[in-house]
Amino acid sequence: MTKYAMSQGRKADHLRICSEMDVEFRQQSTWLEHVALLHDALPEFSLADVSTESRFLGRRLRAPLIVTAISGGVAAARDLNQDLARAAQELGVAFGLGSQRPMLEDPSLIDSYAVRRFAPDVPILGNIGLQQAAVADPADIARLVASIKADGLAVHLNPAQELSQAEGDTDFSGGLKTLQALCRRLPGKVMVKETGCGISREPARRLKAAGVKTLDVAGAGGTSWPRVENLRKGTAPDQRTWLDEWGIPTAASLWEAAPLGFELVGSGGVRSGLDAARCLVLGADAAGLALPVLRAWKRGGYDAVLSCLQGVIAELKSVMLLVGARDIASLRKHKPVITGRLREWINSRSRR
Ligand SMILES: Cc1cc2nc3c(=O)[nH]c(=O)nc-3n(C[C@H](O)[C@H](O)[C@H](O)COP(=O)(O)O)c2cc1C
Repeated sequence: MTKYAMSQGRKADHLRICSEMDVEFRQQSTWLEHVALLHDALPEFSLADVSTESRFLGRRLRAPLIVTAISGGVAAARDLNQDLARAAQELGVAFGLGSQRPMLEDPSLIDSYAVRRFAPDVPILGNIGLQQAAVADPADIARLVASIKADGLAVHLNPAQELSQAEGDTDFSGGLKTLQALCRRLPGKVMVKETGCGISREPARRLKAAGVKTLDVAGAGGTSWPRVENLRKGTAPDQRTWLDEWGIPTAASLWEAAPLGFELVGSGGVRSGLDAARCLVLGADAAGLALPVLRAWKRGGYDAVLSCLQGVIAELKSVMLLVGARDIASLRKHKPVITGRLREWINSRSRR
């Protein structure tokens, strides 16, 4: 099989497995449930006055949300990406395209990624894996971004996924050098994201020093990519491995990254407006979600995506009212009570 046919088959498998099977962490949660927000019994403003306006990647958002990378390069991804882009534009939220690896191998596959005309006003991110970027010319990667008129490039880190893939690339040498070169080529435009295992403070610091401006922690508790790969290899659905549950929960990962001064995204298992609010309280500038959006699209196309995201935004507004935060800046200043395992994590990490 050619490399191109392999990556097409893999992408189609990912869409099918994530749409139809139980691919989420089972024992490990996001720990967002340990972020207790303080109820304000006397808010003294109207729900209609709550503003979720914010900024991300230099553009205005009507709500601090991003649909994080899902797909591209396969036939099914064209309609998906066009519908997601239209929904992002309609609601004023950001949109991340799936990996442009197929385009790197065959530039004529631009069709499923070229969605700027459907979303002229919102931030759009291109996407590439660090493993693919490491063996490509940075000029070619920069062309990927320009050709789809994206505002930035998400570079995804996925060592646990690579380890669980039969055909995975398990040589991770030189990753930081690759990122430094990309940040020089695309100053201020590189976002690094994990894919469901989170990022701790030490690598986050190295990313910051390399010139990365935006970080999406994509922590544990939502979609588990080792789990997806195990299902793809034919593992029985009721069989779980330790690697399926590997990673730093989203809430802990946000706590790790928040002091470092990134433009920060909280994602991985974000499933509601309350989850999004908790991410923002922990220091995120925006909250991201992938699996619920893909599943909504599978259920009912554009309309279902719109109503999924509208539900998240409506719930976020209600939470804001109930904690007395009229706008996103006030929400981000809210001091939560940290409980349970997240408290233990913070105590343990603060003693180091
Ligand atoms: C079907 C599917 C395909 C994905 N493909 C990509 C990808 O190409 N590049 C990437 O950076 N992340 C990819 N992701 C990872 C998501 O962007 C996200 O980081 C991860 O799924 C955790 O978020 P969630 O729990 O909301 O799904 C994909 C996710 C799904 C569900």
